[in-house]
Amino acid sequence: MAFKKKLTVEEELEKMEEGEVVEKKEVVKKNPDELTLEDLPGVGPKGAQKLKDAGYVELISIAAASSGEIAAACEISEPTAEKIIQSARGMLDMGFRSAADLMERRKEVGRIATGSKALDALIGGGVETQAITEAFGMFGSGKSQIGFQLAVNVQLPKEKGGLNGKCVFIDTESTFRPERIIEIAEKNGLDSKKVLKNIFVAKAYNSDHQIVLAEKAKDIIKQENVKLIVVDSLMSHFRSDYSGRGELAPRQQKLNRHMHALQKMADTYNIAIYVTNQVMANPAVMFGDPISAIGGNIVGHASTYRLYLRKSKQNKRIARLIDSPNMPEGEAVFMLTEKGIED
Ligand code: GTP
Ligand code: MG
Repeated sequence: MAFKKKLTVEEELEKMEEGEVVEKKEVVKKNPDELTLEDLPGVGPKGAQKLKDAGYVELISIAAASSGEIAAACEISEPTAEKIIQSARGMLDMGFRSAADLMERRKEVGRIATGSKALDALIGGGVETQAITEAFGMFGSGKSQIGFQLAVNVQLPKEKGGLNGKCVFIDTESTFRPERIIEIAEKNGLDSKKVLKNIFVAKAYNSDHQIVLAEKAKDIIKQENVKLIVVDSLMSHFRSDYSGRGELAPRQQKLNRHMHALQKMADTYNIAIYVTNQVMANPAVMFGDPISAIGGNIVGHASTYRLYLRKSKQNKRIARLIDSPNMPEGEAVFMLTEKGIED
């Protein structure tokens, strides 16, 4: 085969115009989650760069664009842009899926017991895979303790409320305590050394780092049987990194990407995501509870299950289920004990 010289951006675009395949790509079966612009037929590295420079970083943004838009942004003809869009749509499998297919997928949903039967019942039998479960509440309401308990319980066999799986724990507030994991494991009759080994902890230093860690979790997931990702807490870095005036929009954009990445991992790998969230008091609320979760609609919409945790007497806690797609609103009472979470 003749030596192929490297093409300039212009040459490459010209070839794209002519509908010529720039580089013969190996047909590799990739996880849809891992497809990049470079995987588009007819788009080489430079074409991909051109698209990226124009703001089309992900396949989905191309799939959702119009040919006129891309043609103008990348200075290519509309038919070429249309071809690229169609390929992106094809690769992303954007069509409708039958309800039967979805039902099949739903059948694979696993559940992790929280330690409290009442709390499990409130959320339909435990923390679900293929979903994001969010717990928000004031300090000491039990958000982190639930995260610790789930990190232990996910390792149990199915009949004991686990998924025989491991846990990725993203710690943003430096409140992860291995000692507490050991205590919960031992009080539940488990080998604490083994339990600790199956929890992969990463400390996130800022919101960008948190996003990268969540994306990096994929690498562990592919090697280990991870069934749970805990993010404790979701918003603390976003809150402090974007505290200035006019920073809300960029914050929400980043947050949106983060939430989507988490949901996608939940779907692709059939994993449960548990995130904790902080609260704020809204003085404008005159009736009812003025406490609400931070993060706005982005977090609210992305979370499949939202639990509002309140302190009650001593170690008693009350969880309220808010806006669930398939469970009625309601409350459950649970206890924070040495053993972890109990009824
Ligand atoms: P912030 O992260 O501060 O917003 O709060 P949080 O909601 O994460 O609180 P967390 O889940 O850490 O709950 C703290 C509460 O759990 C404490 O007030 C205790 O009631 C309980 N707790 C924590 N550790 C132990 C323990 O070792 N033994 C017992 N019995 N209770 C504990
Ligand atoms: Mg906490």
